[in-house]
Amino acid sequence: MCGIVGYIGHREAYPIIIKGLQRLEYRGYDSAGIALYDGSDIKLSKTKGKVVDLKDKLESEISTIGSLGIGHTRWATHGVPNDVNSHPHYSNSGDLVIIHNGIIENYDALKKELIKRGYVFKSDTDTEVLVNLIEDVKRNEDIKLGKAVQIALNQVVGAYAIAVFDKNKPNEIVVARLGSPLAIGIGEDEFFIASDASPFIEFTKNAIYLEDEEMAIVRRGKEVKIRKIKNDALVDPYVQELQLNLEQIEKGGYDHFMLKEIYEQPEAIKDTFRGRLLSKEAMVKLAGVEDNMKKFLAADRIIVVACGTSWHAGLVSEYIFEDLARIPVEVEYASEFRYRNPVITEKDIVIAISQSGETADTLAAIKLAKSRGAFVFGVCNVVGSSIARETDAGAYTHAGPEIGVASTKAFTTQITVLTLMALRLARAKGTISSSEFRHHLIELELIPDKVEEALKSDAFVQTISDIYKDATNFLYLGRGFNFPVALEGALKLKEISYIHAEGYPAAEMKHGPIALIDEQMPVVVIATKKGHYEKVVSNIQEIKSRKGKIIGIVTKGDKSVKELADHVIEVPETIECLTPLLTTIPLQLLSYHIAVMLGKNVDQPRNLAKSVTVE
Ligand code: G6P
Repeated sequence: MCGIVGYIGHREAYPIIIKGLQRLEYRGYDSAGIALYDGSDIKLSKTKGKVVDLKDKLESEISTIGSLGIGHTRWATHGVPNDVNSHPHYSNSGDLVIIHNGIIENYDALKKELIKRGYVFKSDTDTEVLVNLIEDVKRNEDIKLGKAVQIALNQVVGAYAIAVFDKNKPNEIVVARLGSPLAIGIGEDEFFIASDASPFIEFTKNAIYLEDEEMAIVRRGKEVKIRKIKNDALVDPYVQELQLNLEQIEKGGYDHFMLKEIYEQPEAIKDTFRGRLLSKEAMVKLAGVEDNMKKFLAADRIIVVACGTSWHAGLVSEYIFEDLARIPVEVEYASEFRYRNPVITEKDIVIAISQSGETADTLAAIKLAKSRGAFVFGVCNVVGSSIARETDAGAYTHAGPEIGVASTKAFTTQITVLTLMALRLARAKGTISSSEFRHHLIELELIPDKVEEALKSDAFVQTISDIYKDATNFLYLGRGFNFPVALEGALKLKEISYIHAEGYPAAEMKHGPIALIDEQMPVVVIATKKGHYEKVVSNIQEIKSRKGKIIGIVTKGDKSVKELADHVIEVPETIECLTPLLTTIPLQLLSYHIAVMLGKNVDQPRNLAKSVTVE
């Protein structure tokens, strides 16, 4: 993972880089560092900890002057997070300095070779190997930095987004990408480099996104030159106009991004179906599906590949696609799928779901599926991301930037897109009547208001959070469409409060988890009116007789669960397949409040990162 930022131009680089790193902290936050060129030498400061720790240390350690610089916020892969392993890394001569996001897989062999040639290593990182390899090539062949980077990268196996500069040529930064994102912001006589556009959004709306296996020489006052790393071919830069704005990436009065994003869900869901859900015309329009309708109709099955919360959205979609469109669905962890020898045929449709569009395992699963002839459809949030580009077609979720590491609005908007797809296919296949179809559209259109209503439980959820915040274990139960919601609720709690939680299909409880239930165990049970209600009520009785503490997520007006449960949180009524969009809201709030009460870092939980670009 890791976030990288660079600047070369006419302004002071430091404020841009430090602020940029803060915006990229979602990518990793175990250590950080910055290298600046002050007009005569490189000044470098780095530390274990967050960007704010770096800021304090750096400002007391070095001068912050300079209009060229690079910075890094790390999520450790090679070497524990400490000051020495933090980036940037110098080459042995001290002439070159580099930042790197990714993994150099053959670093050990390269390192041994370099040690034989007299190189000395201070850190345990693969990155220090790369910068010395570049130095070695440059020195032996007496060539410019750009060429040396290119030759070195051709010897490297792995993934990277890098930025490197030479203190003897302080007018250029060389950048390259393979597998990890890298954007170049184009200003007036100035350039910005970053893992995504958020660090430079207030300076320019024009950006180039490097493709895999491309490198660029970013020279002060000159045009950006892009080349293919493998064959040196020049590439015409494609400058995109960014849609992002500053407001979207700030907290806007909320204490945390996670809370802001939870509250953004009514709008985000509306944005997802805007122009696609046409209830008056009784139509669903999704260009990616429409253009490939023949393939969808001929498909034997759908295989969903995803990770984390996106995988949970995929699991919800299994129920929806099968129920509405009668297409068999398999939902796969991308990390497992990519290393199996899965049976994939040309009659399979693979749907890859990813908020970031950068998850390495999902990307690899897509490549595998494509190589075996499947048609791959992407459901991504980040426009122009690697997965969005790698897939044959797709539909964006349009949720806006999601910055809190624990995914919230990405989940509900993914379910919204997948529901629209299922409805469109159901209509085309004739597996749903026109009146049912119309009814589903009307119900889906009402969801944003119902999410708004569900959010009103916030204060009550806060009270419940206070009662259970010291529990060491939680159980989450749900059935049918709400079984994946139980998994997602448990994941949210684990991620940000570090309380152990398990999600289970309610009926499976008796095959194991029931042994855990005693008076200490809070059990969150999703028991909405539609969908196996009586069966779930029986499950609740089983918990009650073992003295478990029951928190029921129920349909407004519910009476039976209220009599049995210790607490009930109401959500508005809707049709069964849409209940996950509502039941998930109190679960997000529950994990949020517990984490806040326990004093945890909600937006940047330990050991996690938002965008997992390593396998
Ligand atoms: C990380 C994030 C999760 C996310 C998962 C998949 O683990 O912390 O919130 O669900 O990656 O990410 P994606 O961007 O592919 O949805």
